This record gives sequence, structure tokens and C-alpha cells, in this order.
Amino acid sequence: MTRALVLGGAGFIGVAACKELMRRGVETIAAGRTDRPYGTFTSYVAFDRSDEQQLKRALEQVEPDVLLDLACYQPIDVPAVTRHFHGARYVFVSTGAVYPNLDGRPAREEDFVPLTGEPTPSLDYSDGKRWCETFLARDRELPWSVIRPPAVFGPSDHTLRIAAYLQRVEDGGPLLVPVESYERQAGLAWVKDIGYACALACDLRKDLTHKAFNASFEGVSVRDLIEGIALAMEKPARIHPMPFMQIPEGASPYGPDPGRSAGYVLDRARKELGFEPSSLEDALAETLAWYRVARPSHPGYANRAEEQAIADSA
Ligand SMILES: NC(=O)c1ccc[n+]([C@@H]2O[C@H](COP(=O)([O-])OP(=O)(O)OC[C@H]3O[C@@H](n4cnc5c(N)ncnc54)[C@H](OP(=O)(O)O)[C@@H]3O)[C@@H](O)[C@H]2O)c1
Repeated sequence: MTRALVLGGAGFIGVAACKELMRRGVETIAAGRTDRPYGTFTSYVAFDRSDEQQLKRALEQVEPDVLLDLACYQPIDVPAVTRHFHGARYVFVSTGAVYPNLDGRPAREEDFVPLTGEPTPSLDYSDGKRWCETFLARDRELPWSVIRPPAVFGPSDHTLRIAAYLQRVEDGGPLLVPVESYERQAGLAWVKDIGYACALACDLRKDLTHKAFNASFEGVSVRDLIEGIALAMEKPARIHPMPFMQIPEGASPYGPDPGRSAGYVLDRARKELGFEPSSLEDALAETLAWYRVARPSHPGYANRAEEQAIADSA
């Protein structure tokens, strides 16, 4: 039986990944810094991975075959894994933010090119992940694989980006979206699908060493998302396209920024990982069930009156 240690296993994507691993019969041990009550997972260990000695001790204690890492943000954490992980596969959960601007072209895995030189001490989220991937690309000893999710939504989405659209459809619109890109494929994924992609990447029967994989919906635009929400909520989809640069901050958190990529190409993920995205309808049904109970609010919703005024004046 494969034993997987899931760093960040109690987080948003981590819970979905643990569920899928357990469904597949993988002995699953979740990890995070916070002490969590016993019973949330089959097993759980608390440690801070940014303390190399704590990471070492946890890896010695658990001896995982697979380390699924959802809590790696800084390149310094990568060589620490190389030094202390001696299992069969390290799965690094990266992000689509590693891709360069592709001017509306869907991203292929090879569009990420490892960086040259050395990282500066303080890196933002995207650069941190780019450097993590660069350190991995330079490491031919660690048996690594990479999953690159785009913006992920689902129940308990702490980014609250999906709530921004749910709230605006619920209040009857309007939804201000970028005229240049709202009908293009967008970089979106359901948390359950990303958990599934992570679990597929932990399957030691497949040779996935030194490969990266996209995982997302395919062909879903922000327009499709809004229309899907409207259908599920039995509300009108009052879409208000306008220039990207004029959209108030927080009104359309998924953008999509017309200069970025237009979603992902899934050919490699399908062929080599066996990944297939679910339907948007299923993802929205589950997300809506959570929204109706939790009533989350996106911070940008505080400026709703300004958005209404923009739409009314058009
Ligand atoms: N959510 C998205 O839309 C999205 C999109 C693309 C990529 N990703 C990537 O997917 C991964 C998971 O994202 P998420 O949204 O699930 O994040 P999350 O909900 O914040 O989960 C991350 C988990 O990692 C644990 N953690 C953080 N720092 C740690 C440390 N130093 N040592 C041990 N555990 C630590 C946290 O638990 P404790 O607080 O208990 O330590 C937390 O449960 C991240 O790497 C993120 O970059 C996410």
C-alpha cells in the first residue's frame, strides 16, 4: 500500500486531495502547522515545514512513499525536501501564475521556462512558485512531478473569488466583465478536480518523473461561469462587458486579464496523468450548496454601488 504525506492536507485543496487519496486506498497522513483534533483525518501530524529539522523529523517518523506538497511557496523549501525526502515521488502543487503573459493563448506546460540566476530574498507568490519550479527543474535526483492549478473554487474557497460572482448574480446583476476576454476560456478549476489531479500524480504505477501537468476545466469562460450560476440560481445573467482597464478593483476577480493566458491546454494531463475535468454544472451545484449556508462575501462587494452606477450610466 502506498503511504502519502500530504503537506497542507487540512487546507482548501488538501482536504479534496486527501479524500481522493483515501478513496483510492492510499494510506494518507495529512500535515500542517496547526494542531488539529484527532479524527478530522485518518492521521495527522503537526509541524512547520519551514523549519528544516521539523520537516526532517516528520519525514523520518512517517516515511512516506509520496510527499504531496500543498504548502511550498519559497524556493528555500525545495532543497530541504531533496535533503530529507527519500520516497518514490514528490508532488509539488504549483500554480498557473508561473506562466508568462501569453496574450490570450491557452497555456501549455512547456510555456513555463525555468529562470536563470538566483532568487532574491523576498519573493511574491508567483515568483516564489516560479523559483520553486526552477529549483525543481535543476534537481535531477529528486523524483518530482508538478501540478499547476489555475484559480480554484468550491466549498470553503478562502479566496472568496467565486463568492464575488455568486453574490452579484444573486442580487440581480450587473456583472462587469472584461469585454476583451470574458468569452475566452478562463483559468478555472473545481477543488474536487484538483484533489483528483493531485491523487493521480501520487499514483506510483505511472511514470510521471520530472513532468508538470495542467489541471483545470476546459473551454469554460467567465461568461459560461456567470450563465451557469444564473441557471443554477434561477436568476438572470446580467453581464455588462466593458474595457478591462476600467473595471473597478474586485468586481471580476477572475478577470480574465486579456494579457494573460486563456486557460490551459489539457492534452498532456489527459494522456499521461489520466485527468478529465468534471462538468461546470456539478462544480457549481456543490459550490452553491456551500454558499447558501456559509453566506461568504467577497471584499470587492463593498463597492457594489459604484458598479451599479457604471452599468446604469452606460
Ligand atoms: N486556492 C487556489 O485557488 C490555488 C490556485 C493555484 C494554486 N494553488 C496552490 O495550491 C496549494 C494549496 O492551496 P490552498 O488554497 O488549498 O491553500 P490553503 O487552504 O491555505 O492550504 C494550505 C495549507 O498548508 C498548511 N501550511 C501552510 N504553511 C505551512 C508550513 N509552513 N508548514 C506546514 N503546513 C503549512 C496550512 O495549514 P496550517 O495553517 O495549519 O499550517 C494550510 O492548511 C498552494 O500551494 C497554492 O499555491 C491554490
